Amino acid sequence: MSIKEEIEKRRTFAIISHPDAGKTTLTEKLLLFGGAIQTAGAVKSNKIKKTATSDWMEIEKQRGISVATSVMGFEYSGVKINILDTPGHKDFAEDTYRTLTAVDSVIVVVDVAKGVEPQTEKLVEVCKMRATPMLIFINKIDRPGKDAFDLLDEIEKKLNVKVHPLSWPIGMGQQLKGVYNIFEKKLNIFEADKQKIAKESVEINDLDSEELDKNIGEEPAMLLRDDLDLINGVYPEFNVETYLSGEISPVMFGSALNNFGIKELLDCFIRIAPTPKPKATEQRVINPFEEKFTGFIFKIHANMDPKHRDRIAFVKICSGQFQRNTNYYHVRLNKQLKFSNPTSFMAQKKEVIDDAFPGDIVGLYDSGNFKIGDALTEGEKLDFKGIPSFSPELFQYIENADPMKAKQLAKGIDQLMDEGVAQLFIRVQNNRKIIGTVGQLQFEVIQYRLEHEYGALCAYEPLQLHKACWISSTNKEQLIDFKMRKAPYMARDKDGKDVFLADSAYSIDISKEKYPDILFHFTSEFDV
Ligand code: G4P
Repeated sequence: MSIKEEIEKRRTFAIISHPDAGKTTLTEKLLLFGGAIQTAGAVKSNKIKKTATSDWMEIEKQRGISVATSVMGFEYSGVKINILDTPGHKDFAEDTYRTLTAVDSVIVVVDVAKGVEPQTEKLVEVCKMRATPMLIFINKIDRPGKDAFDLLDEIEKKLNVKVHPLSWPIGMGQQLKGVYNIFEKKLNIFEADKQKIAKESVEINDLDSEELDKNIGEEPAMLLRDDLDLINGVYPEFNVETYLSGEISPVMFGSALNNFGIKELLDCFIRIAPTPKPKATEQRVINPFEEKFTGFIFKIHANMDPKHRDRIAFVKICSGQFQRNTNYYHVRLNKQLKFSNPTSFMAQKKEVIDDAFPGDIVGLYDSGNFKIGDALTEGEKLDFKGIPSFSPELFQYIENADPMKAKQLAKGIDQLMDEGVAQLFIRVQNNRKIIGTVGQLQFEVIQYRLEHEYGALCAYEPLQLHKACWISSTNKEQLIDFKMRKAPYMARDKDGKDVFLADSAYSIDISKEKYPDILFHFTSEFDV
């Protein structure tokens, strides 16, 4: 197979949702269809318990399992599918944001009864920043839920996206008769089944035919005809280009638990989802079909065993062909590195690979060379764009609690920050270290891992802040004045960028008013 064909057969995506909408179940059913796993229940354990108190063993287990499920690759209908796993727990949202930099599209799972939930809104926001194509799957239609039209309205309003239904439920909950696949003009009759993976569908080209009434009953058939008339009136004909450009999100309905509507989702997905897309760098846009290899690190996973402090760095291949035992250029360190055991992930199996292509994710064993966002090339100096840090919401000072272990603590903090566990800011006035996170759990994870992996003890001191925002301006005078007046609130991030530690939303608003030439950014990547 030519490299071009290899690239064109790849679909790399993530499934995102608010916890409990059915992401894990859907992932698992997709793997079942792909023949990558044999029984349902295999992916289930990839979850932190939904208890309010954190459970350390669960977190450790999660870290271990999620290496195996970081990428789930399988072949389906001649297409190589790479599903990138994203942590369900909201405290790990930053991990999810980063994973989204490595996908070419996403499937958004929405619970038919709960509709659009907060975490879905946040994640979709991140996808929209990069115009990532989104396919929406409305799950759990075997249960009573919201009216399908109301739900589409809610999605459009809350997610601020335009939608286009490609399938339509016939009844819901107890009354669920089936789903009409608008995309393929086929009828799927509902039959609850958690294990069976292939069901026959009935081809119905003429909706007026009696065939429809025979299959689902007269009244539901009438209702379906009315609904489809309405859909045709409201939504213009589906155009794949508008999906690929991120303008319109197609919507499909089903029940992951019952294997219903999943094959249709997958069949539609492989037809419309994007192949590996070009990737922006500071210097230029990389086209996947370029001959030379380029890739970037979007995730780093520490070894669970504290005795072996090696890590796995996940590289997304952006162009060219990646090969084992070949020297590649690590741009930030300005040095050549060779990888003897690059690993690919096929469902739950890890295996050493000889080569990989754009769209693929390869795991590289690393002893501390990599940071999130690092570039690997064949010699070109590139800085990948679009791997920003997001403004954290929780802050604490971190202090050394064991004076004998200062070095270990510094090293531990450094490495954990490289992994992207949290963000470190240094307060300019007193040089104190501040850890910023999106969830409380990270503070506990950091403390636990510093102790168990680095033998260091830390203590936290609470810090009441609203947000950290990056500031920039072309007006140097205003910038100097701002930094001087706000000196107690100024810090630097890991790259030495200026960060304003705002104690309230009000103080940001006031600052914006007083310093109209200063821009306040909520992600670390911005144009001045
Ligand atoms: P998540 O990864 O998005 O957090 O969700 P997950 O797949 O774990 O699903 C959350 C719950 O919703 C699970 O039930 C799962 O069985 C159920 N679920 C998923 N898809 C459907 C569906 O199509 N219909 C119905 N009725 N339920 C569905 P649970 O009780 O929390 O877990 P479990 O005890 O079943 O494992």
